[in-house]
Amino acid sequence: MAKFKHHVFVCVNEREAGDPRGCCAARGGHDVAKAFKLKLYERGLKRIVRPNKAGCLDQCAAGVCCVVYPEGVWYGRVTVDDVDEIIEQHILGGRPVERLVIPPEALTGIDPDAEAAPDEFSI
Ligand code: FES
Repeated sequence: MAKFKHHVFVCVNEREAGDPRGCCAARGGHDVAKAFKLKLYERGLKRIVRPNKAGCLDQCAAGVCCVVYPEGVWYGRVTVDDVDEIIEQHILGGRPVERLVIPPEALTGIDPDAEAAPDEFSI
């Protein structure tokens, strides 16, 4: 089994035209995913960093949305022009690109570490 240092999930979800939520595919998600793949491979990171196309990451208002693991850093409004910076500064340099980070309070979902997590969230 491959053991990657990072995974980069890029939302490429597509919705019907006119859907009020919009979608990352319409905002360029496929181009962003392709750019990550090409640029990571160009840098010799093919077996070290895994770019993955993802379905809806539930951050639609901030699309194109990406998340980098294992750090769990969420990026919003990512364009092809941002990909080099994310790779250089975050993935290789260890410093998230703050101008693109979706603040934790703006993320949807439930933080399992939060004291107020509802009872229905249990693993
Ligand atoms: S459509 Fe991309 S996060 Fe929902």
